[in-house]
Formats: sequence, C-alpha cells, structure tokens
Amino acid sequence: MHLAAFLIAGNASHSQVLWRHPESNPGGFLKLDYYAHIAQTLERGKFDLLFFADRLAVSTRFGGDHRYGVGYGDQDATRLDPLPVLGALAAMTSKIGLGATRSTTYSQPFSLAREFATLDHLSSGRAAWNVVTSVNQGEADNFGLRETLGHDARYDRADEFLDVVHQLWGSWAPDALLLEASSGRYANADRVTAISHRGRYFNVRGPLNIPATPQVGPVIIQAGSSHRGQDFAARWAEVVFGIQPDLARMQRFYNDLKGRAVKFGRKPGDIKVLTALMPFIGRTRAEAEEKQARHNALVDPIVGLSTLSSHMNVDFSGYALDAPIADLEVAGMQGLFSLIRELSAERQLTLADVGRLYASGVLVPQVAGTAADIADWMGHIVSKQGADGFVITPVHLPSGFDDFVEQVVPELQRRGQFRLDYRGDTLRSYLQD
Ligand SMILES: Cc1cc2nc3c(=O)[nH]c(=O)nc-3n(C[C@H](O)[C@H](O)[C@H](O)COP(=O)(O)O)c2cc1C
Repeated sequence: MHLAAFLIAGNASHSQVLWRHPESNPGGFLKLDYYAHIAQTLERGKFDLLFFADRLAVSTRFGGDHRYGVGYGDQDATRLDPLPVLGALAAMTSKIGLGATRSTTYSQPFSLAREFATLDHLSSGRAAWNVVTSVNQGEADNFGLRETLGHDARYDRADEFLDVVHQLWGSWAPDALLLEASSGRYANADRVTAISHRGRYFNVRGPLNIPATPQVGPVIIQAGSSHRGQDFAARWAEVVFGIQPDLARMQRFYNDLKGRAVKFGRKPGDIKVLTALMPFIGRTRAEAEEKQARHNALVDPIVGLSTLSSHMNVDFSGYALDAPIADLEVAGMQGLFSLIRELSAERQLTLADVGRLYASGVLVPQVAGTAADIADWMGHIVSKQGADGFVITPVHLPSGFDDFVEQVVPELQRRGQFRLDYRGDTLRSYLQD
C-alpha cells in the first residue's frame, strides 16, 4: 500500500483543534525545525510522500468577515507558502516525496512550471503538485476577481493549464543539456523546443528556462470530488486523494475513478487512490479511545462551520444551529457537500453537529485502536479495493506521526503490506512499485 501525510503549513490539519492540542508545540508551525521533525519521521517510516494542502485566503465567508476564522483558528487561519517549506525540507531529507498545492485559477503556467521544476531538480526527483482549482470568494477577493470562476470554467482553465505545463516540462529533451566546456556549447538548442501555445486562457511561447528535471514533471495529485473534478483527475492525476467515511463509499469512488481513467485511455493502475484516515493509536483500545475523546472534546462547532463556509462558499452563520443543514446548491466543494447532506440525513445531524464533525476532521474517518487494529482496518480497505493506500492526517504536531511510524508502519511491514525500504530513486518510481 501507499502512504502519504496530509499537512497544512499552519495551525491545523483536517483537525482544527491541532494548534491547541496539549501535545502540539504551540506556534511551532512558524519554525523550520517543526517541519524537519515531521519530514524526517515520515521518511524513517518510508512514506511515499508528505504533502501540504493550501488556500490563498483566511476564512471570510462565515459571518461575512475574518473575525471567527482568524479569531478562533479555523483551517485557514494561517498558511505559510508550502513551496519554500519544501525547498528547505529537500535539503533535510533524501527519499520522501514532497508535495505542494498550487491553484490553476491563481497561478500562471510558466511560473508554476518553474517552481515545480526547481523543486524536482533540488530534491532529485521527489516533487509533486496537488492541483486545485480554488473554490472560495475569499481567494477571488485577494486576486482581483469579482467572483470565483464557475465550477466548469475552473476545470476548463485547469485542463488548458495542465496541457501547457506538461508542454513546458517537456520543452527540454533529457539530452539537451550539453555543458561542453571545451567547445563552449551549453545546450543543444535543436533539442529545446518553443511550445508556442495560444489558447483560450493562456498564451505561452516557451521553452522553459530550466532543463529537463529528473521526473520530467512533478507527480500530479488531485482531489476533485464532483463529476467534472473526477474526470479531470482521471485524465491528469497519478495520485488522487479522497475523503470517504466508509468502505462502501470508498469502493464507489475507487471504481468510478478507475473506470474514468480507462475512458481517458489510461490503465486503472496509473492512478493511485489514497483515502484519508485520522488514526488514534494506543497500547490498548481503551487508551486509543481516550485519546480520540480528548481530541474531539476540544472541538468548537463554530470553528467547523467557519471552515465549512469557506469550503462551500456559503455563509452558514445565518442558519439555525439546532436544525438539519439546509438543502442548498453550493458553488464550492460540491462532492463534499453532497456527502454532508447524506450523512446528516443518515445520522439525523443538526447544523451544530455538522460543525463539530467538520472541526474534528472535516469528514475524514477516525479510527481508534492498537497498532494491530489500525493495520487490520487499513489492510481490509485495501483488500476490498476501497483504496490503494492512505493519506494520514495528524491531530497534533510535530510529534503526531511518531506513534504511527514507530508502531503501525512496523506492523504493516511485518504483514508484508508496506515497503521495508524505498525502491527506485524518484517519487514516481515509489508510486509504481
Ligand atoms: C484530501 C483533500 C485535500 C484537498 N486539498 C485542497 C487544498 O489543499 N486546497 C484546496 O483549495 N482544495 C483542496 N481540496 C479540494 C479539492 O481540490 C476540490 O476542489 C474539492 O474536493 C471539490 O471538488 P470539485 O472541485 O470537483 O467540486 C482537497 C480535497 C480533498 C478531498
């Protein structure tokens, strides 16, 4: 199975109480040694990659300004730019894949192609890009758009964006760089091609001003959950992240995506589906459940509703907390919203319950137990084709992965379900292993 770590270079993860968890280092997320500890722990645990989610605005939807989200530390209260963090981590690690989120709506293909080509060179082939299209008004407000692009327009622009960056990453043939000091020939210009792209959203001459990188382009990650988002993933992604609360939904998502991949001329195995998991590990089940209860008791439903408002691009502050969530059309994360509506109906949740669920971990399933219990759960999901692996999300940092790496990884290795060491030199090679 494959393992990725979900991180935000800030105060939260899927858990929005992370920064106030008693085992977290308060404010540590502004310091490099915090990220170094996390990355080195994960590399010791042979994780395929760590990745930083990102958003380009504090939450401003709930209540119409930033007072709740910033004031109480929701998921968007602080986000360092992940790419410089990864640049530093490239120097402190040698094997683990390094992923960052960048938006196709608020970036230009040429500058983005350079950023990831630089990371891929400096990390010797470990770069990954989580492609997002950005859904909320706060981000539009920071980049001079009157409103966010419509749902399908976001993906039209993203399709063209991916086409352009792949052309740029391929614009230097791998043998183009000569470095012949004696003749003075730096590169074979015939092996470097202008892309001369003219499209609906972008005009880019190229070529890139960076020679071919070890992986040629970074590994492409995506997490769209709408039909259009899943088609986009099926066309471009090598890793897809999902949030599904149970095996039946995981299987549906997994089969749907692999089927779509075939429709785009790819093999089902070309895409690794990693499903999110929030583990609570104890020496006994009781100890694990106590850890889970301690974490969930810190949750403030308003913090969850602030994040939910950002994700869905809807202000939930005007709705009754003790009533079921409203039946709305949302412009934001449509797939996640349908899931919330389904779960609310199944479990008869009020809006306050949804806020609590969202603040404790968005909708990521929590699994509490011993290392053997967690390994059983993970093995079961993979054997039933619910996923090819997992995105592990922490509840405290920087030590939040220590128990997983020291207890669950060895258990998976003993069972022959996870690698004993990295094989291959690039992130892409680990994913194909
Ligand atoms: C595990 C996971 C991680 C995600 N990370 C980000 C992120 O870092 N930034 C972001 O803007 N959106 C993120 N998203 C949202 C997706 O990119 C996507 O916009 C969302 O799932 C809605 O799907 P849709 O665009 O197809 O409607 C994430 C979604 C999931 C499931």
